[in-house]
Amino acid sequence: MAGRVVLFGATGYTGRLTAEAMLGRGLRPVLAARSAEKLDRLAADLGGDLEIRTADVSDPPSVRALVDEGDVLVTTVGPFVRWGAPAAAAATTAGAHYLDSTGEAPFIKEVFERYAPVAARAGCGMLTAFGYDYVPGNLAGGIALREAGDAAARVDTGYFITGPADPDAMSGGTRASLGGMFGAPAFVYRDGIVRGERSAKRLRTFPVGSRELPALSIGTSEHYALPRLAPNLREVNAYVGWFGPASRALQLVSGGAELAMKLPGAERLWETVTGRLLQGSSGGPDEASRAKRSSHIVAIAYDGGGRALSEVHVTGVEGYTFTGAILAWGAERAVAGDLRGSGALGPVDAFGLDELVVGCAEAGIAPETGSGGSAAEGRRPETASGS
Ligand SMILES: NC(=O)c1ccc[n+]([C@@H]2O[C@H](COP(=O)([O-])OP(=O)(O)OC[C@H]3O[C@@H](n4cnc5c(N)ncnc54)[C@H](OP(=O)(O)O)[C@@H]3O)[C@@H](O)[C@H]2O)c1
Repeated sequence: MAGRVVLFGATGYTGRLTAEAMLGRGLRPVLAARSAEKLDRLAADLGGDLEIRTADVSDPPSVRALVDEGDVLVTTVGPFVRWGAPAAAAATTAGAHYLDSTGEAPFIKEVFERYAPVAARAGCGMLTAFGYDYVPGNLAGGIALREAGDAAARVDTGYFITGPADPDAMSGGTRASLGGMFGAPAFVYRDGIVRGERSAKRLRTFPVGSRELPALSIGTSEHYALPRLAPNLREVNAYVGWFGPASRALQLVSGGAELAMKLPGAERLWETVTGRLLQGSSGGPDEASRAKRSSHIVAIAYDGGGRALSEVHVTGVEGYTFTGAILAWGAERAVAGDLRGSGALGPVDAFGLDELVVGCAEAGIAPETGSGGSAAEGRRPETASGS
């Protein structure tokens, strides 16, 4: 018998988008969160007749009780650094497949390094950061590496949002998670291993339309997953271009934050301050607001001398719409038994590149016409500036 899809965090902003996308695909998810009242309301809004289950991350056995072997646990309960562990542990203990919506580097590292061996032994797959953070960069990077062939020694990905700037374009959950993102340690992939490096240490530009836009370095699933696709890859860099002209200033602030965090007691103070900001779901952009923005993700593969071999652009819907839809697609494939392996999986090795192209297109992001067909002939080698 096929397992169930359990959606933990269903009452949140991203959880609801994911539930709607799941229903749109014909899935009947079990809706899980900490408030029975909110779950009742959500189930009624979604047409009723959906099983609901309560669980609270402060009571890990309640989260463990959500899933059995063969189920698929999809979690949007974040910030994940603070609240993610019980769901990851529940899935690996039960032998359930697992997908999450995190974008936080320390949590991604936990999944790839700490939970992966346990999941592999249990025969279940873990797909962390399976949303806008960071599926499209794996997609673009996977295509760029396929185009570049064996000569690829390095790949850089960059994430950009296009459309009018809007302070309300972020959900409360994203804001809470972002607070931890730039104060926390991150990583890069160099010389065949993932090494520690703070977020926003490096800044570079990417071609987006007719412009060169700045972006800051960050730790993502690309660092763990893309080297699996290209045996000669020595370096993976991922960047986010969400801060536009403020990128340089943020890079300097991030450098200062790293020094400040070394002061005695700073880490505990930071946790207290960010903890106070986490007051539960405060919603996010509505459909009309989401429709005003879109996504543009770039991947460029280089040879060992820094010459660009291939350049791929994937574009489409903005991040929240994509996140709900790709989590629903991934859950559907996982529950159907289509995962190609166990342990911590990247989006490409989990499904195969061509399947992922189809899934992302269904979720609203696809390669631009003609993108990736030709190497960026004559483009100067890109170097990043550190601080
Ligand atoms: N990868 C991406 O591109 C992407 C996209 C969107 C979101 N995200 C991330 O996904 C996470 C959720 O974002 P969001 O905007 O949906 O946040 P949100 O609206 O605040 O939703 C959080 C959910 O977690 C639940 N929750 C909070 N504390 C809990 C606890 N102690 N036990 C059980 N459940 C608890 C909330 O329940 P209540 O309803 O009871 O408060 C709610 O269902 C964030 O970390 C965000 O950064 C990532």
